[in-house]
Amino acid sequence: MDGLTVKYNELSAEEFITLWQTVWGQGPSLEQTRLAMEHTLFRVSVFHGDKIVAMARMHGDMGLDYYIKDVIVRLEYQGKGIGRMMINELLKFINDNGISGTNIFVELCAKPDKISFYEKFGFDMNDAQRLKMMLQVK
Ligand SMILES: CC(C)(COP(=O)(O)OP(=O)(O)OC[C@H]1O[C@@H](n2cnc3c(N)ncnc32)[C@H](O)[C@@H]1OP(=O)(O)O)[C@@H](O)C(=O)NCCC(=O)NCCS
Repeated sequence: MDGLTVKYNELSAEEFITLWQTVWGQGPSLEQTRLAMEHTLFRVSVFHGDKIVAMARMHGDMGLDYYIKDVIVRLEYQGKGIGRMMINELLKFINDNGISGTNIFVELCAKPDKISFYEKFGFDMNDAQRLKMMLQVK
């Protein structure tokens, strides 16, 4: 799509919360999100002019494992190839930084109606179940 700018490792906490809230309602706190952005390994954000329209981010150890998080394209920009471009940027980062000839485990969690989007890149399901908790920091 014309007129889009892709940025790397610039996604701010404010931008993250703005996009998060377009999909999942009330977002996390600014303080918590600032810390999270600071410690995210790789962030991709997409702008149309000054407006953030999409983001994706990834945790990882560079050698063995990565975890893709918070892939969001603003509703009115969906279906234009932006989601595909961002996933390809994340996979390129892994390829560019991994040890040649090795295999690297890439994981994510997807809602059932988004699974076929990720299958296009080669993701598939295994037998492991996702376990989760929300730990309240004392
Ligand atoms: C899922 C999401 C990131 C896809 O982004 P997008 O920019 O609309 O996707 P693209 O236009 O790049 O689509 C790439 C391909 O995936 C397909 N696709 C997109 N969304 C899909 C879906 N929900 N299910 C199946 N296929 C999908 C497109 O048809 C396209 O296929 P093609 O290349 O064969 O034509 C976007 O819909 C979104 O942000 N949704 C809301 C937030 C969300 O749920 N995020 C994922 C959390 S798991």
